[in-house]
Amino acid sequence: MNLQIDSQRLDSELQELAAFSETPSPAITRIVFSEQDVAARAWLKQKCASAGLSIREDAAGNTFARWQGTDANSASVGTGSHIDAIPNAGRFDGTVGVLGGLEAIRALQASGFAPKRSIELILFTSEEPTRFGIGCLGSRLLSGVLKPERAKTFKDREGNSLEDLRRSAGFTGDLDRVKLHPGRYSAFVELHIEQGPRLEAQNQEIGIVTSIAAPAGLRVSITGSGGHAGAVLMRERKDAFVGAAEMAIAVEAAALRTGSADSVATTGICSVFPGAVNSVPSHVKLEIDVRDSDLARRDAMVTVITEECKAIAGRRHLEVDLETVNSDAPAACDPAIVSLITNACQQLGLTHTKMVSRAYHDSLFMSHIAPTSMIFIPCHLGISHRPDEFASLRDITNGVTVLAHTLAALASQ
Ligand code: GLV
Ligand code: MN
Ligand code: MN
Repeated sequence: MNLQIDSQRLDSELQELAAFSETPSPAITRIVFSEQDVAARAWLKQKCASAGLSIREDAAGNTFARWQGTDANSASVGTGSHIDAIPNAGRFDGTVGVLGGLEAIRALQASGFAPKRSIELILFTSEEPTRFGIGCLGSRLLSGVLKPERAKTFKDREGNSLEDLRRSAGFTGDLDRVKLHPGRYSAFVELHIEQGPRLEAQNQEIGIVTSIAAPAGLRVSITGSGGHAGAVLMRERKDAFVGAAEMAIAVEAAALRTGSADSVATTGICSVFPGAVNSVPSHVKLEIDVRDSDLARRDAMVTVITEECKAIAGRRHLEVDLETVNSDAPAACDPAIVSLITNACQQLGLTHTKMVSRAYHDSLFMSHIAPTSMIFIPCHLGISHRPDEFASLRDITNGVTVLAHTLAALASQ
């Protein structure tokens, strides 16, 4: 199949999408259900409609743009990713999978290919945990991993509920109806930047994902006692922040101690109350991210972190409350899709390697309801979640070409 990917159009669209941001270029910030997110969604839907795709949105804001196949009764083939971006992010995370997926569909249409199975481009809501403290909100709901009753309790830091925010963004249906029935998709493939340095360092054009590491999230609430920074003597203090600081060191140590490069643990959020320079911190909230490709090792890290936090609190006479936000298993990718991606790379003469995804993706949850794999492209120096994140147009075009061939093969089955 000779496919023409319109790289210039894709490049322009990636740049246009980057303009929907709460922070000035090159930093991208696009928080779910914000004004910028809603505007970017409208822009994207217009692009999908122009490509002749029919659009459905669910109550969580997951958006499905469908290219109808010749066999309307067969399960569809899915592709897609997210367009929300963490604060101070780059412009390729997620967006390459969404706009690249659209470009793959347009290239297939232009070639005259007629899919037997319908092909659906999915825009997942809130892959990033920024607003509600949990990643992959949309795909968790779609797959049934997250129960709607729990999602209905979610609030952002300002106290706005997910229920109100999604309705204000125009998604008024019932969250109970978001879950997809198994068999809805015969396959799901997500194109994404690697977000690590391996492909570039090894001079490989394509990464074929065989598994996705297991993430867990913890929230730690620490209560001490506050007071005047001049008047409360050091020996009398119950400083919640210094306890939290020791806990963050313990988080780092727990990951280092496993001896495996696959173990990672991060304290990414620390909010200090009352947050005045002349006031002893009385209350601190930490949010901790723990990941490993090995589930038992990840769980062991979480246990160590939990015990250490309690021990530190005990020594410092602080109260501590730990909440598990998520504790997900790793995903194994589907060998048949991995083979199809490998075949596409071979036919196209692209260098390729199999790899584990250290970042999580909506594919982690789509794998619960459909055979799934991912196509990775290099990103410069592995930099991601930073404004200087960069993927070359050549690498993006390669990824889209491999995706288009893989979708064609899957839609013909
Ligand atoms: C996704 O953004 C992740 O944190 O892995
Ligand atoms: Mn991300
Ligand atoms: Mn992403």
